[in-house]
Amino acid sequence: MTVIILSCRVPLRRNRTGFSRMINATPSVFDASLSRSGSTGIDSFVDRYAPDVEYTYYGAGKIALRDGLAGLVEPGGNVLVPAYLSPAVVEPFRDLGLEPRFYAVEETLAPDFADLEDRIDDDTVAITSVNYFGFPQPGLRRLASLADDHDCYHIDDNAHAPLSVADDRLLGTHGDLGIATLRKLLPVPDGAVLYRRDDEVREAFDPSSLAGTADRVAATDYRFVATSVAERVSPTLLRSIESVLDDGPDDSSSVDPEARYEAAKIPMSKFSARVAAAANPEAIRDARRENFRAWRDVLEARDDVRLLYEELSAGLSPYEFPVRADDQAALLDELADAGVAGAHTWPILRESVHENAAYETANRLANEIVVLPVHQGIEPAAIEAVGDRLRR
Ligand SMILES: Cc1ncc(COP(=O)(O)O)c(C=O)c1O
Repeated sequence: MTVIILSCRVPLRRNRTGFSRMINATPSVFDASLSRSGSTGIDSFVDRYAPDVEYTYYGAGKIALRDGLAGLVEPGGNVLVPAYLSPAVVEPFRDLGLEPRFYAVEETLAPDFADLEDRIDDDTVAITSVNYFGFPQPGLRRLASLADDHDCYHIDDNAHAPLSVADDRLLGTHGDLGIATLRKLLPVPDGAVLYRRDDEVREAFDPSSLAGTADRVAATDYRFVATSVAERVSPTLLRSIESVLDDGPDDSSSVDPEARYEAAKIPMSKFSARVAAAANPEAIRDARRENFRAWRDVLEARDDVRLLYEELSAGLSPYEFPVRADDQAALLDELADAGVAGAHTWPILRESVHENAAYETANRLANEIVVLPVHQGIEPAAIEAVGDRLRR
């Protein structure tokens, strides 16, 4: 299969109906994910920044996590995860007969270490850190040594930013095992990586049939490309293609955690593998960093919005630009009116966390945070143009 990705980062232009190019949440197959010269692929980036790690591709990070842990744990144990998290992320633990235990987080998204330590017991098999939005979770080192002290595995969940490097090491590879999600970085329908750093984790790894990449082009590949094309060409065409292709089970808009988990049980598609092999990680990271700084310039002076991250350290590849808004819905409306279709809230909290007083900060953050897209398909000039419209 030949993957052709057109390189065009198109700034916003007005037409009769508003903006001919809205800023969408994710890059499309038309966006610059490749460069003809200097493309190095995801593999070479991992080899460079995590040379001591073994890794395997999967369709989804959740399934990668299940496979990574399967040979290490027995049903009846528990895994600690931050409360500020999408609901389906804990499904692999449940699949393995483990109890997911949520720990509280601070306003900085660091673990509330007192709460975390209180929840650890003799049955705790792993502690998960999450590198939110492409930034190392504050307290990452302390969490790693806590996992060591309690003789449990440290899972470094780096779903958000496969290209972020901190302390000269790829995020996702700071623990005993970890994951990254390529779907959040590239214009692909699926794709994730399981990293195995610890010797015990490597030895126990027994990949399921879902490990690796598909050897044939599947209907989901065609579906993804068709909807990407239609999205670019016309909303009416997009709606009709979606209605023809809508086959229910892999509907990623489903919020039922179990259904999402079951739908993720696919290997990485051939299309995703080709895009990952052809991607230019340095160019993608540079573009995302530039867009992050463009949003910072646009939003830092507003007094109804607080930036979650003021600084963007060298090496980080932001997933999105998160802010805390006084009025989340009003900010989303304002952004949509200014041409930003891809801003959204994050995450929908798991039922046991939602409105639970033990997780007050996670709930507050979920009610305040708005994330803005910074992907490589956006021109910084398009963000500056949004800034001009917001100021008017
Ligand atoms: C923090 C975090 N971890 C893990 C995952 C799961 O990744 P995947 O969708 O590749 O299974 C997600 C997905 O949204 C996530 O946000």
